[in-house]
Amino acid sequence: TPRVFSGIQPTADSFHLGNYLGALRQWVALQETHEAFYCVVDLHAITVEHDPAALRRRTRVSAAQLLAMGLDQDRSTLFVQSHVPEHTELAWVLGCITGFGEAGRMTQFKDKAAKQGTAGASVGLFTYPILQAADILLYTPEPRAGAVLQVPVGEDQRQHLELTRDLAGRFNHRFGTTFVAPEAYIPENAAKITDLQEPGAKMSKSASSPQGIIDVLEEPGPMRKKIMRAVTDTGTEVRYDEEGKAGVTNLMRIYAALDGTSYGDIEKRYEGAGYGQFKKDLAALVVDTFEPIRERTRELLADEDALDRLLAQGAERAGAVARRNMEIVRERVGFVGRGR
Ligand code: TYM
Repeated sequence: TPRVFSGIQPTADSFHLGNYLGALRQWVALQETHEAFYCVVDLHAITVEHDPAALRRRTRVSAAQLLAMGLDQDRSTLFVQSHVPEHTELAWVLGCITGFGEAGRMTQFKDKAAKQGTAGASVGLFTYPILQAADILLYTPEPRAGAVLQVPVGEDQRQHLELTRDLAGRFNHRFGTTFVAPEAYIPENAAKITDLQEPGAKMSKSASSPQGIIDVLEEPGPMRKKIMRAVTDTGTEVRYDEEGKAGVTNLMRIYAALDGTSYGDIEKRYEGAGYGQFKKDLAALVVDTFEPIRERTRELLADEDALDRLLAQGAERAGAVARRNMEIVRERVGFVGRGR
């Protein structure tokens, strides 16, 4: 069976609609057809200033949401990044074959660093993509003909995936074939969900105002309100037009993703109806999708010990794969094996 790996940062008290449609929905689906490894990347979450108590809480809330969305330890492996120390070890090795200029070209680093003044950004933020490459490559299947490693992510992660592929190729070239080059698995229509108030910008925990984001764990009231108040345009027509009607088009993407309706059918359904009815129906779709997830998340968080035990199970299974692959990497790089 083909393998998938993906990760998400525990940087907020709830995931948002962009995370869900861009990535997490695919995670749940792919566990049926793939051998899946999913990771809450707490090491990545400390690349910007953080509060330890919040990180601990958010790591558990993140894991609980993923389970509530349908991830299941019997069908996939869900774990916390810091529980498997090989992630940092491989990141060091990959960092040593990454060019300084190459790392400096990562646009996500440039954006995030610019926000805090580049000189003040941490070295961890700079090497973030290398740790991400390590996350992925640590779960490489054996590099045989036809072996695949897919990575379900949103559009914003494409450049990091390209770097990961480059590093895999470079390592293989220098030290012998070790890694399978991973492939980005990016949904066609929900790859970039935009801010409800600023349809030109990505919906993002760090950039958007609360009014522009729909949180998975949000109460139905505010959820409806935000959708009803989403920025559209002065027209009245529900029509797919990325340039001329960015706001409406973003809402149509969300609608289509949740309802399975084509853009053409949505246009027909709301012909002459105006934005009000369309938004009202969309709000109902979003509320109905997230309400059971919110309930289930709350239940899972009520028993912290049980949740931690589930994560320990995941770390056990992920660790076994990681240790095996890291053993091969150490040998290829030329480290002397520890005597027994
Ligand atoms: P993070 O936590 O920022 O985002 C998690 C996932 O959500 C997707 N996403 C979006 N998709 C569509 N529209 C949006 N507005 C939107 N906002 C976020 C992201 O593309 C991502 O798939 N660097 C990764 C975390 C990571 C990782 C990995 C991913 C660490 N190691 C290994 C894959 C494989 C990130 O930024 O996640």
